[in-house]
Amino acid sequence: MALDFEFMTPTKIVFGRGSSDKIAELLKEQNSRKTLVVYGGGSVVRSGLLARVLAHMDAAGIGHVELGGVVPNPHLSKVYEGIELGRKEGVDFILAVGGGSTIDTAKAIAYGLAYDGDVWDFYEHTKTAVSCYPVGSILTIAAAGSETSNGSVITNEKTGSKRAFDTEFGRPKFAVMDPELTMTLPDYQTQSGATDIMMHTMERYFTCVDTLDITDSIAEGLMRTVMKHAQILHTDPDNYDSRAELMWSGSLAHNGLTGIGTDGGDWSCHQLEHEMGGMFDVAHGAGLAALWGSWARYVWKEAPQRFVNFAVRVHGIEPSENTEETVLKGIEAQEAFYRSIGMPTSLKELGIAPTDAQKKEMAQRCYAACGGPQGSVKKLDTDDMYQIYCLADH
Ligand code: NZQ
Ligand code: ZN
Repeated sequence: MALDFEFMTPTKIVFGRGSSDKIAELLKEQNSRKTLVVYGGGSVVRSGLLARVLAHMDAAGIGHVELGGVVPNPHLSKVYEGIELGRKEGVDFILAVGGGSTIDTAKAIAYGLAYDGDVWDFYEHTKTAVSCYPVGSILTIAAAGSETSNGSVITNEKTGSKRAFDTEFGRPKFAVMDPELTMTLPDYQTQSGATDIMMHTMERYFTCVDTLDITDSIAEGLMRTVMKHAQILHTDPDNYDSRAELMWSGSLAHNGLTGIGTDGGDWSCHQLEHEMGGMFDVAHGAGLAALWGSWARYVWKEAPQRFVNFAVRVHGIEPSENTEETVLKGIEAQEAFYRSIGMPTSLKELGIAPTDAQKKEMAQRCYAACGGPQGSVKKLDTDDMYQIYCLADH
């Protein structure tokens, strides 16, 4: 039986070529008088996007102050820097120009500006937010889905802990999405993003509860779409239509749509990957690709029909009477897809070699971060998590 649900996706989407030229209009709608503009390691400087955005703001008389230097697996220290700068400058809006790391940093700054204590409390889940400054974004990579999601993920670089904080306050007011802006991405980042998009739907798809046909159909269509266009972009990176398909899929994959009427999904791979991101600073999507097959082989017997549906409806596998055979063909087809776009299917291919002690430490940290057993298909305890890291370590 389908579960009851609530669904809210309040972010205004402004999609298409040249959409970033509408930034001043959008900030005016938000009544911003002074905006904190957050960006990453320089791609938006090199492409000229940042200069264009600031020029539009100047022309419209919107004050601004900039904070650059956000790194992938974004650091807590940059968040603190942003909160201090935002307070000193009296900003009233936070604009992220970049990818998930930049948007997540903007969200964390926005939580911090509305809070008297240490913003890390939220990420440690010892406190919860009751308000947040408004955030908007100009997206430059289709991946994390942070442009419409309620989440943000920050790494405390002193401890190596990468932690997520999700509340409805975290949903951005608007997202400017121009697929052309993603054409400067290196292929590895494009494909890591495509993997993350697909995984946001797979995490929701693999569940032990009954699902809605409509939710499954949307999810399966989204997964097939992402695979098709990721493969096109692997050889034709300037294909605007495929860039557009991926960008819109990224938002739909993580605004909650593909998990409606279920228990919300499994999310074990994400939790396991966050520990790898915290310890080894790997690209998030690539880390997910490296883990997924091992997770799937470890848990599929708990929900075989979901894995059969995935094999048949997403990968077009001919079902056989032998369930295991069909399931394994589906898992292998997913791994073949990862390889076809240059993504890893093991920790070695990802380029990391954790020691046994590090695998145990990641499992313990993951279990603690989840506040207990994690997963919907199978509830993983610390030893299960360790076993999956071991399976992936080849
Ligand atoms: O920093 P710059 O110079 O901008 O370079 C970035 C960065 O090196 C580069 N890049 C982005 N757009 C570009 C570009 N390079 C050339 N041209 C462009 N147009 O790409 C690199 C990766 O950027 P990043 O923002 O880290 O990518 P992504 O969007 O994949 O974000 C990953 C982060 O999001 C978190 C991940 O854990 C990770 O920390 N996630 C956030 C979620 C959320 N808030 O809902 C959910 C996800 O599951 C995920 O956990
Ligand atoms: Zn993700």
